[in-house]
Amino acid sequence: MLGGEVYEAIRSRRVTRSMSMQPVDPAQLEQVVRSARYAPNAGNRRLQPVLAIDDARHLRLLRMIAPGMIARPTAAAVVCIDFGRAEQFGFRRETAGLFIDVGTTAATMLLAAHALGLAACPVTSFSRVAADRLLGLDPDVSAQMIICLGHAGDPEAEPPLIGGWVRAGSRSDSASPRDQSAGADH
Ligand SMILES: Cc1cc2nc3c(=O)[nH]c(=O)nc-3n(C[C@H](O)[C@H](O)[C@H](O)COP(=O)(O)O)c2cc1C
Repeated sequence: MLGGEVYEAIRSRRVTRSMSMQPVDPAQLEQVVRSARYAPNAGNRRLQPVLAIDDARHLRLLRMIAPGMIARPTAAAVVCIDFGRAEQFGFRRETAGLFIDVGTTAATMLLAAHALGLAACPVTSFSRVAADRLLGLDPDVSAQMIICLGHAGDPEAEPPLIGGWVRAGSRSDSASPRDQSAGADH
């Protein structure tokens, strides 16, 4: 048997939402995506294609339509459902197994990423319609979960302050609440 190593990998895996700008080695990204092939899958039908992304533009656009994407990943694996093929098997779009297999696929890739020393975070809080369009997916294929991938950053690092303070009935580009209250009309 494998001893305690697999259990230890399961135990120590944690989501990481603070990622550095260090790119993910393309070979590692491929390994993570390939690991999806080993996920348990209902009837072994494999109706969950996985898309690998490592270009900055698509990652930036994805982040704009994903409120749940706190991390700034340098790569991502997007787990989709091929509803067209699912219908050919006689499944309705809401069939639970289709979504359960998204979970098994994601869990397997998260563990693979951890085994390779990569930081990862699953995200389901995003606009599916927008993601499908910006990823150029076929009409019957839809993104279900984004696995952010990267290298762990410094969780203590201060994130840049973007924008200003907004108070009821007013708006300012100032970064200081004091400046803002001076200009406020209340
Ligand atoms: C289906 C699912 C959806 C999730 N969606 C998000 C998300 O949108 N944003 C996020 O930051 N984390 C998301 N997570 C990560 C969970 O918050 C995280 O797994 C949980 O807090 C436990 O932390 P751990 O995985 O480090 O043990 C999601 C996890 C799952 C399983």
